[in-house]
Amino acid sequence: MAYETILVEIEEGVATITLNRPEVLNALNSQVFIELGEAATQLTADETVRVVIITGGEKVFAAGADIKQMATATAVDVSTSVRPSLKAFNLIENMPKPVIAAIAGYALGGGCELTLTADVRIAADNAQLGLPEIKLGILPGGGGTQRLPRLIGAGKAKELIFSGEFISAEEALRIGLVNKVVPTDQLLIEAKKMAKKFAARGAVAIQMAKTCINEGLQMDLDRGLQYEHKCFSLLFATEDQKEGMKAFIEKRKPNFQGK
Ligand code: COA
Repeated sequence: MAYETILVEIEEGVATITLNRPEVLNALNSQVFIELGEAATQLTADETVRVVIITGGEKVFAAGADIKQMATATAVDVSTSVRPSLKAFNLIENMPKPVIAAIAGYALGGGCELTLTADVRIAADNAQLGLPEIKLGILPGGGGTQRLPRLIGAGKAKELIFSGEFISAEEALRIGLVNKVVPTDQLLIEAKKMAKKFAARGAVAIQMAKTCINEGLQMDLDRGLQYEHKCFSLLFATEDQKEGMKAFIEKRKPNFQGK
């Protein structure tokens, strides 16, 4: 599929989506959101794709939603135009395969919110993350007030959102906003290394573990534990479970088929 604002490359079961509007620091306009949603749908359906990486390359992840597009918008315009962003973010968050955000340079506003829809965030040491919407007289409207506190806790999320300040990759690591920090020139190499590790595991087990975590976060502990137990039991109906345990007993690497 041809896209105008993103690039999609698939190599050995790992798809890489690269945001591609460098002239505006990958600012996210409605076309980007529509294309991200289409790519998420395409890559979800593609059974050869085991893991998805989202990046902006080594210079910038994304400097947020396109302020020039929003500047003259009315409340009615916004209530209809944010739908593609919410749709794209939900599609990415709920993809039945691991999604890794590889973040270099600025990941601000909607760019930072996009990283929150990924399962794992890897930051380059040049990364700067933040939710500066408050400085524009608005609030983070792409899930920032909801996903960020669930990830790092309400206190730290409020500090970031109320101040609008950017934080370094190291600070993001310290507060749990990113999983790891790597040298900038190693960012994509490290992201692909992690993707290949995930791709070698049983795809059905990963999909169910992701669903357990994402759905479980919306439930109380008792319901979450019941849900986990059902998913756990179901995995014993898969070929991957038989293969994984047989391989352990035979002291060899498992050859998972995702079935
Ligand atoms: N929307 C639209 N255009 C943007 C943008 C955004 N969110 N962020 C950057 N751009 C554009 C700039 O307008 C500029 O375009 P121009 O060359 O036509 O003037 C170009 O990208 C380069 O940005 P510039 O500001 O010149 O780069 P910088 O290195 O001096 O500063 C930032 C970088 C990220 C600090 C600064 O661009 C910024 O604060 N951007 C907005 C961040 C933000 O508030 N995001 C949340 C939006 S809801």
